[in-house]
Amino acid sequence: MSWPLSDLAPAGRVPVVLAPMAGVNDVMYRSICVEMGADLTFTEMVSSKALSFANEKTRRLLDTAPNELHVGVQLFGHEPDTMAREAAWVEDSLGEKLVCIDVNMGCPARKIIKKGDGSALLNTPDVAQQIVRQIKSQVSCPVTVKFRKGFAAGEDVACDFAKRMEDAGADWMTVHGRTTAQMYSGDADWDVLGRVKRSVSVPVIGNGDIKRGEDARAMVDATGVDGVMIARGAQGNPWIFPEAAAALAGEPAPAEPTDEERVAMARRHASMLDGYMGNTIVYMRKHVMWYLRGVPGVREARGALNSCVTMDDFNRVLDKILVDAADVRAREAAYRAAPGR
Ligand SMILES: Cc1cc2nc3c(=O)[nH]c(=O)nc-3n(C[C@H](O)[C@H](O)[C@H](O)COP(=O)(O)O)c2cc1C
Repeated sequence: MSWPLSDLAPAGRVPVVLAPMAGVNDVMYRSICVEMGADLTFTEMVSSKALSFANEKTRRLLDTAPNELHVGVQLFGHEPDTMAREAAWVEDSLGEKLVCIDVNMGCPARKIIKKGDGSALLNTPDVAQQIVRQIKSQVSCPVTVKFRKGFAAGEDVACDFAKRMEDAGADWMTVHGRTTAQMYSGDADWDVLGRVKRSVSVPVIGNGDIKRGEDARAMVDATGVDGVMIARGAQGNPWIFPEAAAALAGEPAPAEPTDEERVAMARRHASMLDGYMGNTIVYMRKHVMWYLRGVPGVREARGALNSCVTMDDFNRVLDKILVDAADVRAREAAYRAAPGR
């Protein structure tokens, strides 16, 4: 099965993609993002080496949700043979749902780059090309790459690297406009996205600093990219997918989620995971703080949230957060309505 990137979104609008995020993109969160309108979701990065040892925990990262009909699997590693063999295994396992095998060439984490994986591949473009060629020879789905602007501070190798990936057979590519040295700091350079787009003839997805729906539109207008990918802007914020789709289609922005909707989404995510994953409540801590961003009183409730052990504790703390938030909102409204304001 081959999915052209442009077929993933309704005609006339570019696809809006959930970025791979290690430790964040569990299967239920991805399912929620699909429900909210993500056109394509990525698994978190999956170690090709661990897959080659049939590691059960690693294999579970490839679980997909029933509504997740378009999923990209991202592999990391540096051994072309291993990566190609495991890519073929992934393709067999996921079947028609698999949109692409993506190769991680952007991870800046020390433990990853010291082995020559992730963004270290920017420094070994021959190996990167070999990985793409060998995976291409073993799978029939598109093979894609995700990389950064450069490795060292100030370095910009993106256009040359993109051409080499295209020569090796990459079907499309995602570019994040930061160097490895920057990690996630500073602003993403969108200019480089436009330059890569003009340098290659395969589709290019732009990534970096899409925090609101309008940013997706601004990125496409500024760079001409064929798709947009959102990472941190989607943490606890699956509402960004309908926002981005509306902005890209030139439609009015949907209403912002209410406090109740934010709490309901956190509860739903937790209850979907309960039974699927051990220690759900501990895992959910970061997600819940993201879902509840902007809800009054949430910072003060952090300690209570972090001490929850059971789903009942979790739901009780959320009930209290909602009651307190409603109280703050009522006082705010009364203040605004007071005579003389
Ligand atoms: C918690 C976290 C985990 C990430 N894990 C991955 C990963 O597994 N694979 C990958 O290619 N990029 C990963 N990234 C990078 C993002 O996919 C994305 O390129 C980067 O955050 C820039 O996009 P943003 O500005 O929309 O966040 C991760 C980023 C974050 C914040």
